[in-house]
Amino acid sequence: MPSSFAEARVDLGAISENVAALARRARGAAVMGVVKADGYGHGMLPATRAMLAGGATWLGTAFIEEALELRGAGITCPVVAWILPPHAPLAAAVAADIDLGVSAPPLIDDIAAAARETGRPARVHLKADTGLNRGGLTTEQWPETVAAAARAEAEGLIRVTGLFSHFACADEPGHPSIAAQTSAFHEALEIAAKAGLAPEVRHLANSAATLTLPESHFDLVRPGIASYGLSPIPGLAGTGLRPAMTLRTSVALVKRVPGGSGVSYGHRYTTDAPTNLALIPLGYGDGIPRAATNTGPVFVAGKRRTVSGTVCMDQFMVDIGDDASTAKAAGDGPEAVLFGPGDYGEPTAQDWADVLGTIPYEIVTRISARVPRVYDGAD
Ligand SMILES: Cc1ncc(COP(=O)(O)O)c(C=O)c1O
Repeated sequence: MPSSFAEARVDLGAISENVAALARRARGAAVMGVVKADGYGHGMLPATRAMLAGGATWLGTAFIEEALELRGAGITCPVVAWILPPHAPLAAAVAADIDLGVSAPPLIDDIAAAARETGRPARVHLKADTGLNRGGLTTEQWPETVAAAARAEAEGLIRVTGLFSHFACADEPGHPSIAAQTSAFHEALEIAAKAGLAPEVRHLANSAATLTLPESHFDLVRPGIASYGLSPIPGLAGTGLRPAMTLRTSVALVKRVPGGSGVSYGHRYTTDAPTNLALIPLGYGDGIPRAATNTGPVFVAGKRRTVSGTVCMDQFMVDIGDDASTAKAAGDGPEAVLFGPGDYGEPTAQDWADVLGTIPYEIVTRISARVPRVYDGAD
């Protein structure tokens, strides 16, 4: 049941423009819109359509199920799903023409079997682990897997459409692992070329690399967070990105309390003088981190303030002092903005990430389904 007050407004025009700006940065490389995790919390399908309008020609998801949802909505462009756990629906993916990211050698046989079952060749992207040490084929596994893929391709069971890898530290420009991974990727490409593989696309760059590392662009870039207008590198100048999500609600209640009043569970905040407390009807059930207790920034009725006391499941309080314009507006409530693009001094998702010691990815992705997404700029 969605909350009656709150909404996550998503500016689809901003997503389109961010993708168009990233495409200009990529100078000739195609753009894959990364829409996993419900479009980083923005809503997968509206975000997808906005990205395609901005010039993305590929899409990326973590799981096949996400890619199938795109196909079910009539999206026909190439979609890559790159995490294939045991029992992943490979045959359904092949039937739906979903490109499959291969991170483990046995998957070549599994995917070839799915292709036989489906009666059509599977589209495969081999993923090289060039130093992230997460998904991807190790340096030892790469030559044998490339050879197996070349054999399956010769049999007409698969088509190797892509070769790719993923950076560990692209958000730290100058980190030595960046050059090491780029060079390891070149070596992996050479081995694949010698085995006769000629993919449509070679791809390495996430948002940070798209913005800062032209030598990593190859044929296709895979920006996720930057498409939603948030910088992968806090403070990076000149990105021209615009945050797409604004999380807002209305003040549900304002009450006057004496000085020395303990506020919310555990009395972790105490008023130092008679004051007004505003009740903001969003809590950890909506994805507001409980760790924002006494630290989360909130823009209430024209002023930036701070969460006062413990964040509860459905609500938290903000000490709004004696601001008369704010204090009078109980019930209907003045607007409370937790984060947005920052146009009028409201906090940004980056501000929330900074006070919580995390990244803006986590802030936008965790906003729960209880908060309705409302779209600006939808057709
Ligand atoms: C393989 C891969 N490519 C691209 C991305 C997009 O990364 P970012 O959101 O940092 O641009 C991700 C995100 O985790 C990923 O896993």
